[in-house]
Amino acid sequence: MTGVNLLGGPAGGETCEVVRSVYESAPAPDPTSSRLADLTTLHVGGPARRLVMARTTDELVAEVREADARGEQVLLLGAGSNVVVSDEGFDGVVVVVATRGLTAEVSDCAGAFLTVAAGEPWDRVVDHTISQEWIGLETLSGIPGATGATPVQNVGAYGAEVSQTIARVRTWDRLDARYVTFAASDSGFGYRSSRFKEEPGRYVVIEVSFQLELGPLSALIRYAELAGALGIEVGRRAPLADVRAAVLELRRSKGMVLDPEDHDTWSAGSFFTNPLLAPEHAATLPEGAPRYAQPDGTVKTSAAWLIDHAGFARGYGSGPATVSGKHALALTNRGGATAADIVRLAREVRDGVRERFGVTLVPEPVLVGIEL
Ligand code: EPU
Repeated sequence: MTGVNLLGGPAGGETCEVVRSVYESAPAPDPTSSRLADLTTLHVGGPARRLVMARTTDELVAEVREADARGEQVLLLGAGSNVVVSDEGFDGVVVVVATRGLTAEVSDCAGAFLTVAAGEPWDRVVDHTISQEWIGLETLSGIPGATGATPVQNVGAYGAEVSQTIARVRTWDRLDARYVTFAASDSGFGYRSSRFKEEPGRYVVIEVSFQLELGPLSALIRYAELAGALGIEVGRRAPLADVRAAVLELRRSKGMVLDPEDHDTWSAGSFFTNPLLAPEHAATLPEGAPRYAQPDGTVKTSAAWLIDHAGFARGYGSGPATVSGKHALALTNRGGATAADIVRLAREVRDGVRERFGVTLVPEPVLVGIEL
């Protein structure tokens, strides 16, 4: 059969020969400290009782199994970009997931099927897919973190979520002490959620597989702000590298690309999820509040907007923890903040938004030893 591939890949009539390739990013350096403040992007948190690096899947599973057998608490840490650890630290073993490796099977007929080790830095994976002209992860450029963390909270940005391209997630099930692989349809993906997040601690993500299309142009651009930056209409495509560059620029302007010199990036990304409200509740918000109807009948509004309009504009706060100067949804460490300072600010923001709009914001990062 011949045909036209609108995405710019080879037209029909090609062979279905499968080409295998392997990619691996540089090994993670050995940590010089076991303080969580040195291992997380928010730079707060006390010491780990014990810290181990897992550089292979066998090591990862063995460390978790042995700790479970001893009854020792386990904290899995990727890049530490979505976690807030208390100043008391962690009374157990912190297992740093430092596994590496991406293998791809690519054919004109079936596209690219990638399997990525949990510890691979996410943005290096995205960058690699773009260099290979594989479509689907481009709007997820510049997100800090490890690949294994992406299915847990169904990472999303600029109109895409990883659940749209994930084919399967291979895990170690700590409850039943066995490997379990979940198809995407079995992973319970929702907005910033999954079965892996809903049953905290049960599943250790080992590998994530993605199914991507081939071609030089991006998936359809759905986010108005990104389409504007690209100078195209919503619903059109753009060259993959242009999309990556535009997303990186947008993220940078919001303090969402890590930069050790810029305290606006000393954060855990968005500190709260965007609330999903009943339509009656959404109708009570002031005019101008963003409202996005969801397929399940709820209405999503913007946590950043609510925070901003409840009196916590960008830069709010005078202590060592403040609202980011670039985005109301990021709480930041100005240098000397403790976890307690971040928690105090988070409570103030949450309580202020509740008082003003009757909406209780839910934290997005994983909180360790912290109750908000
Ligand atoms: N806004 C304000 N004040 C601000 C910033 C934004 O009022 O200081 C309002 C504006 O009305 C804006 C709206 O908030 O239109 C939405 O802002 P933005 O487009 O920056 O997106 P977001 O909903 O705040 C979400 C994700 C981000 C992701 C961006 C882009 C969540 C919790 N956050 O933020 O993800 O990068 O969309 O797609 O869903 C993360 O999860 O850590 C994260 C950074």
